[in-house]
Amino acid sequence: TRISASLIDPDGGKLVQLFVPESEKDSKSKQASGLPKIRLSKIDLQWVHVLSEGWASPLKGFMRESEFLQTLHFNSLRLENGTVVNMSLPIVLAIDDAQKNRVGSFTSVALVDEDDDLVAFLNDIEIYKHNKEERIARTWGTTAPGLPYVEQTITNAGNWLIGGDLEVINPVQYNDGLDRFRLSPAQLRDEFEKRNADAVFAFQLRNPVHNGHALLMTDTRRRLLEMGYKNPVLLLHPLGGYTKADDVPLSWRMKQHEKVLEDGVLDPETTVVSIFPSPMHYAGPTEVQWHAKARINAGANFYIVGRDPAGMSHPLEKRDLYDADHGKKVLSMAPGLERLNILPFKVAAYDKTQSKMAFFDPSRAQDFLFISGTKMRTLAKNRENPPDGFMCPGGWKVLVDYYDSLAPS
Ligand code: ADX
Repeated sequence: TRISASLIDPDGGKLVQLFVPESEKDSKSKQASGLPKIRLSKIDLQWVHVLSEGWASPLKGFMRESEFLQTLHFNSLRLENGTVVNMSLPIVLAIDDAQKNRVGSFTSVALVDEDDDLVAFLNDIEIYKHNKEERIARTWGTTAPGLPYVEQTITNAGNWLIGGDLEVINPVQYNDGLDRFRLSPAQLRDEFEKRNADAVFAFQLRNPVHNGHALLMTDTRRRLLEMGYKNPVLLLHPLGGYTKADDVPLSWRMKQHEKVLEDGVLDPETTVVSIFPSPMHYAGPTEVQWHAKARINAGANFYIVGRDPAGMSHPLEKRDLYDADHGKKVLSMAPGLERLNILPFKVAAYDKTQSKMAFFDPSRAQDFLFISGTKMRTLAKNRENPPDGFMCPGGWKVLVDYYDSLAPS
């Protein structure tokens, strides 16, 4: 028999999985025709995916008002037994007045995709006001116009939210050639057990991997081995849901990550590459809590966090929206994340004296070069090379190819 390391328990003790059993699919599907339908946007569907596999465990569906309010005001949920779990982002479904009227006194609704195909049911529903300004202000800490997720999903959304228990007919698939990388929390837990991991450290990212990112990951592995772990496994976990227009698309990032493993920047033997299906809010310290919490459910007990996680530029002003150190500070104190070992890292930058990425040393600031996301994109667009040692050549080529593919021929 295999000796399976005991992984960290999911939030709430048991991993939530919200699929209709195979034997009930037919009869359930027939019931859908008698129910009001709600059409899901692409991003709504990504949240159905997230909920259905238990990334948000113990949450069992789109939030009802009590969950929405606890999330907004406490960044956490209190369970019936008194335990507190972290929950910092509202996972909600908006409907407009006409849809609300159609739902009327029904207690369940059918959720369909953009082709009108049945995806799921929402049962024991509750409809409540979508107070957009309060939601935006509390989630992002600002209502400045130009927040990408807000403009995509909130500004033009309906004035009501519908919550309830979710029951999904078929697992959400994207048929983009990447579904095999979309392991659920249950599948990831199996994988970690199969590998006999005695520690799992997660790295959330939405950008191509440069050697600064890699430094955080290799340094973590070294520290875990020093602490006495024998087989720490890295979960390299790129976010696969909605991202803003100027971020590198998932398919290109996956190619880039593959090169990083091929070029030996990270060790394939001790790394699991998988896609995290959540959409991106760009809500900084509030969102990084969600990123960490979801990885507990997937079996990670260590979480790497560096500079300005889930951050972006201020939409109006020439500065970062969030303090670059707040993400890691907040994460170390967040309600409901006490069980997770947070590994905070200093900012990494290009050290010109060593020609490699290193932790920034303020006592010799003049030796360091900061290569921002914007700077990196501009270089790749102009087919220029970053300094040697910033990113492995195979990975950089993927970025250049991506920007080439966008250029008008
Ligand atoms: S994020 O939105 O997923 O947080 P990104 O992919 O840029 O964005 O970052 C992934 C992780 O690497 C985050 O924990 C972030 O804090 C960290 N990080 C990114 N760049 C640096 C850097 N130069 N130095 C230290 N940490 C960094």
